[in-house]
Amino acid sequence: MEKISAQLNNLKKEALECKNCELFKTRNKIVFSDGCENAPIMFIGEAPGQNEDETGIPFIGRAGQLLRKFLFEIGIKQDDIYIANTIKCRPPKNRKPTSKEKSACKHFLDKQIELINPKIIVLVGSTALESFITDKKLTITKARGKIFEINNRKFIPIFHPSYLLRYHSTEENSPRDLFKKDLIFIKNEVLK
Ligand code: URA
Repeated sequence: MEKISAQLNNLKKEALECKNCELFKTRNKIVFSDGCENAPIMFIGEAPGQNEDETGIPFIGRAGQLLRKFLFEIGIKQDDIYIANTIKCRPPKNRKPTSKEKSACKHFLDKQIELINPKIIVLVGSTALESFITDKKLTITKARGKIFEINNRKFIPIFHPSYLLRYHSTEENSPRDLFKKDLIFIKNEVLK
């Protein structure tokens, strides 16, 4: 059986060649993942933005830096996390990925989940939420901070950090307060 790192490398090579949707034509780098292959927590965001497209690293722009700052503050370490997105290539002008693009890319993400086999998958924002939980009535505001068990995997949705960039308050029940509480809940779940 090939090592997990070798399998992930092969998957990344496959993604580099991928032409399953049109986004390969406009992207610069594919944004495959960041973090540790033994991580107990896997974060799944929406899609690469400009900074991610330039560097090939997910969650490296303003929103990503904010997420990483919160993780640092509550003591979730780089070794504890693996980060990916619902799609690997940046949609032009940062529009939301279409369902066609998400389906074209889903086998990569599903294989990453299988190989990393995290204890918890954190769905960052509504696009990631909708990719895994198909209840149309479930908004991110209702779903955040709750555990959803699907096919023996645990998912916890949280707000997208780009939403927090618009709300600076940290008072009780503000988006930033809820975001922090959700991350603390996730940390405690993983340590259980
Ligand atoms: N937003 C996302 O959802 N993913 C990234 O990688 C960066 C910003």
